[in-house]
Amino acid sequence: MTKDSQTTLRRTIAALVCCGLMVCALPIQAQESAPIIAGKARILPALARHGMVVAQEEKAARVGLEFLKMGGNAVDAAVATGFAMAVTLPRAGNLGGGGFMLVHLARENRDIALDYRETAPAAATPDMFLNAEGEADPRKSRDSGLGIGTPGTVAGLAYALAHWGSGKFGLADILRPAIKLAHEGFVIEGDLADSLPQAAGRLGRWEASRRVFFHPDGKMFAAGETLVQPDLAATLEKIAAEGPKGFYEGATAQKIAAAVQAAGGRMTADDLAAYAPVERPVVRGTYRGREIVSMPPPSSGGVHLIELLNIMENFPISETGPQTAATIHVMTEAMKLAFADRAEWLADPDFVNVPVAGLISKKYAKALAAEISTQRARPAAEIKHVDPAPFEGDQTTHFSVVDGEGNAVANTYTLNFSYGLGLVADGTGVLLNNELDDFSAKPGSPNAFGLVGGAANAPGARKRPLSSMTPTFVLKDGKIEIVTGSPGGPRIITTVLEQISDMIDFGMNAAEAMEAPRFHHQWLPDVLLMERGMSLDTIALLKAKGQNVVTSGTLGSVATIEMADGLITGASDTRQRGTAAVGW
Ligand code: GLY
Repeated sequence: MTKDSQTTLRRTIAALVCCGLMVCALPIQAQESAPIIAGKARILPALARHGMVVAQEEKAARVGLEFLKMGGNAVDAAVATGFAMAVTLPRAGNLGGGGFMLVHLARENRDIALDYRETAPAAATPDMFLNAEGEADPRKSRDSGLGIGTPGTVAGLAYALAHWGSGKFGLADILRPAIKLAHEGFVIEGDLADSLPQAAGRLGRWEASRRVFFHPDGKMFAAGETLVQPDLAATLEKIAAEGPKGFYEGATAQKIAAAVQAAGGRMTADDLAAYAPVERPVVRGTYRGREIVSMPPPSSGGVHLIELLNIMENFPISETGPQTAATIHVMTEAMKLAFADRAEWLADPDFVNVPVAGLISKKYAKALAAEISTQRARPAAEIKHVDPAPFEGDQTTHFSVVDGEGNAVANTYTLNFSYGLGLVADGTGVLLNNELDDFSAKPGSPNAFGLVGGAANAPGARKRPLSSMTPTFVLKDGKIEIVTGSPGGPRIITTVLEQISDMIDFGMNAAEAMEAPRFHHQWLPDVLLMERGMSLDTIALLKAKGQNVVTSGTLGSVATIEMADGLITGASDTRQRGTAAVGW
């Protein structure tokens, strides 16, 4: 069956389902439509007609859904989900971190990138993460207050609501469910139950964090118990009453700055007062007739997603097929080239001239594609970044939202590590990030994700560290077709790439693409990570081509929505517990 006929079939099934039975969106409820799709789709996506939220925590997803049902738009729902997840998914949902939001406004046919990444404090210096011998000291950037960036989430979410929300709800309305969840508590289950014990050491180091996540007798909260967060509820109430100033100025800001300094960091109340999110032009590309819209620097995600898709267009991917050695080999070779570019060129565009136009140009990709042998893996040591000028921590979380008007939000935000630094700013309930580890402490020294970087991404006053977050839209004929994104550090880029390729090249639905085993190469270290489930024959062929295949744990965790023929389908990743695709 050709790719086009597969896609047509998928669309036909979608239309049949739309005319027939379903209106719901929980995966379990979607099974009710199984007789219609049986024999066609291998795995069923969640279904909806009027709107959908796909997120890594169900209570927060349902908060967003309620706003959609009350007549809110995708931005209202996304902001409500983002604040709720700061309560219900504390390892990644946050007030004390930062992220990136991509917004599509259907009526204006406009795409906006909102950068609410954390910034380094004014007192940051290029050598702040070096030891006395001049070597990178990961303890400084990952385990001390020096690694904490000025949080951007509260300012970013409030900005999005004020600028692109429906206008039907104020910040206080949007915050009400999050406040209730923090104040009344909720039962620990799903990913929270899984991740808390793993973070016992990180959280248990700090007295203020112990007061939130441990009982007075020293036992950590566990599955089935109720987590109540009164300080966090009070902080959210202050934001509801005063707007972002309730966080960035006054008592909350003083408490955050004091906590950072007590942990050895340099952030001051002035850094918090000066924080501002930035609207940036999206990066745009095309892939096999679709338009790709994604996040520009200081995330590397969008640039390299487009660079990779551009390289892949030079190969007959739909003919070489999904999960085959031929396809994976070509994509892996492309990944090495893109990540070599990342290490050299990408950084905060307010400080460094990033050659975006060259990196995402089709001509540049053609030149890179010409370097790829379909038979032999190129050792990473042989690969250096190319000059594009002539061509001119699974710890993050992503959610995708669409509404009935065709508006969409793709939002990825993070504390960097799971639970960030693990430090709650005393009296605020706010967990603080260790995002500044995403700077290159020293050229060539790897960060926690093994990513190397150059001088461009050195720490600097009020600079934003380079990210891999890749909230992305695929548009067809000017309308949203796919909304997607993932956590996973550098694996975000390759996870989003594979999700999009599986859907466009092979006609998979969102759930089938989500379930497909993933692979990842980031140039250095020179290993091809593969999830379990890949055929042993494929692995043997890849090894024969010279790929250093290593079986890895799970890679990424997508939250994807597809809109086609009036039907909304979605998939939340089964690699984590408690994820949800809910709609109506
Ligand atoms: N902290 C992971 C990222 O921003 O890519």
